[in-house]
Amino acid sequence: MAAAPPSHDPARHLEARLARCVPFRANMPWSPELNLTAASFQVWSPFPGLPALDTPVDELHRGTFVDAPDGSFRYCVRLHRRGRPLQTFFRDQVGTAIFDGDVAIPALYERDPRTGRFGPHPWMSLTPSEIMTLHEGTALARGHVVVAGLGLGHQLREVARRLQVRKITLVERSATLVDWLLPVLRPAIRKPLTVVVGDAFEVMPRLRADIALVDIYPAYGGNRRATRALARTCPKIRRFWGWGDAPVSGLGQRPGGGRR
Ligand SMILES: C[S@@+](CC[C@H](N)C(=O)[O-])C[C@H]1O[C@@H](n2cnc3c(N)ncnc32)[C@H](O)[C@@H]1O
Repeated sequence: MAAAPPSHDPARHLEARLARCVPFRANMPWSPELNLTAASFQVWSPFPGLPALDTPVDELHRGTFVDAPDGSFRYCVRLHRRGRPLQTFFRDQVGTAIFDGDVAIPALYERDPRTGRFGPHPWMSLTPSEIMTLHEGTALARGHVVVAGLGLGHQLREVARRLQVRKITLVERSATLVDWLLPVLRPAIRKPLTVVVGDAFEVMPRLRADIALVDIYPAYGGNRRATRALARTCPKIRRFWGWGDAPVSGLGQRPGGGRR
């Protein structure tokens, strides 16, 4: 039997991708196949020193995670293996990223109050896709910026680094998350910062700002309606950007689907 052409042979295709890896950058152009060098993927961790593991989040041993004081959130570092595809999304498209070595991916999970378990999807993890899609919004930040959704504080930190940004108002629903994570993040935020704990849909209509960057969504894609509805109630915020607002096909947007 004739051998399958290389492009249809998954093992060969993977090897070809691994041979073409380039350094990761938040502003690199998205393509359906991102082939990245592991050494270039250095992301910030709020609690350094934890091992990167691929054990299910609920089964991690003491010392390999940090829980919020009330146990409602868990921070841990996921081990992502060489050559294993990670889903990426960009506007209305999906693809994969692979690395030429193992990488450590910081992640934040919220305990499901009904099951008492964490996951399976994180609220936030510092994957290439998350970093690239948030970068689009961050690049618009100037003047007084509302950042809605703390998560791991990635976008908050990136917004604060921009010279064009004068001050920031963070809106986050969870007081636990703010009390637990913000003290760790705060030294990196060298801009005036106001923190409002509350539901973005209730808090933001009272705010005045140049732009709001809204990432309060559990899954990518199809968030435009929610962002627009929020924007309509906020006449004093001049511009809105929402994470994952394009309709995405092929993402498998099943109920309960979430971030990776
Ligand atoms: C996906 S995370 C944000 C990740 C963040 N962009 C980052 O860079 O790390 C979503 C956050 O929004 C918060 N959140 C969810 N719904 C909210 C709401 N209605 N109002 C305010 N915050 C909300 C969650 O508690 C969570 O911290």
